[in-house]
Amino acid sequence: MFYEPRNGHGLPHDPFKAIIAPRPIGWISTVDGAGKTNLAPYSFFNAVHSNPPMLMFTSESMKHSAANAIATGEFVFNLVSRDLFDAMNISSGDFPAEVSEFEAAGLTAAPCRMVKAPRVASSPASLECKVVSHAQLQDVNGKALQGWIIIGQVVGVHIQDSYIRDGRFDTALAQSVARCGYRDYSAVTELFEALRPTDGGGYVAGQKDV
Ligand SMILES: Cc1cc2nc3c(=O)[nH]c(=O)nc-3n(C[C@H](O)[C@H](O)[C@H](O)COP(=O)(O)O)c2cc1C
Repeated sequence: MFYEPRNGHGLPHDPFKAIIAPRPIGWISTVDGAGKTNLAPYSFFNAVHSNPPMLMFTSESMKHSAANAIATGEFVFNLVSRDLFDAMNISSGDFPAEVSEFEAAGLTAAPCRMVKAPRVASSPASLECKVVSHAQLQDVNGKALQGWIIIGQVVGVHIQDSYIRDGRFDTALAQSVARCGYRDYSAVTELFEALRPTDGGGYVAGQKDV
């Protein structure tokens, strides 16, 4: 089949998010101007640069996470491990600003070092970010959309020591959860390694990765 999105897809559900899958979940914690904590998952999320490390997420309407990140210039990424899935899912609920999703999902907030927003204490890894840019998305005709992209530079990294094995962060141990299409998810349970043509004799720890 072929379709132009502007004319519809003709399927019971839009396949777009199932095609661009799996997507890592940016579980974003922020505070508002009054210091109230907020936590919500964003799968329009990814790493976009490595040196310095940078992340982005997009908000389809001006939701609390985007508004807080833009207002305070800070946000935190928390990794969703398989055991944290239910809490992540609860935190996606449509809570009013005065309700903290940390409490609603039964999560403990731990302080960050470089930003005011807290992190999810039980997450295997959390990345403290400062906003470097944000923009409202436009379509091909220059029409402003109800979509905002926020890009942050990672200024602090928390890793639970138990997830470091042989000097590497063990993604399969964390069983990092990704969003697929519809209401489908995937967890990383298995890794395979493949060397690049440019790797020569083997993967060298500490080599520059791009
Ligand atoms: C796994 C998952 C991924 C999501 N990804 C996005 C996303 O990329 N962009 C978005 O606007 N909403 C996304 N949502 C919905 C938001 O999490 C939801 O609207 C939430 O209430 C926003 O909270 P906030 O207003 O506190 O930021 C996602 C929900 C789930 C469960």
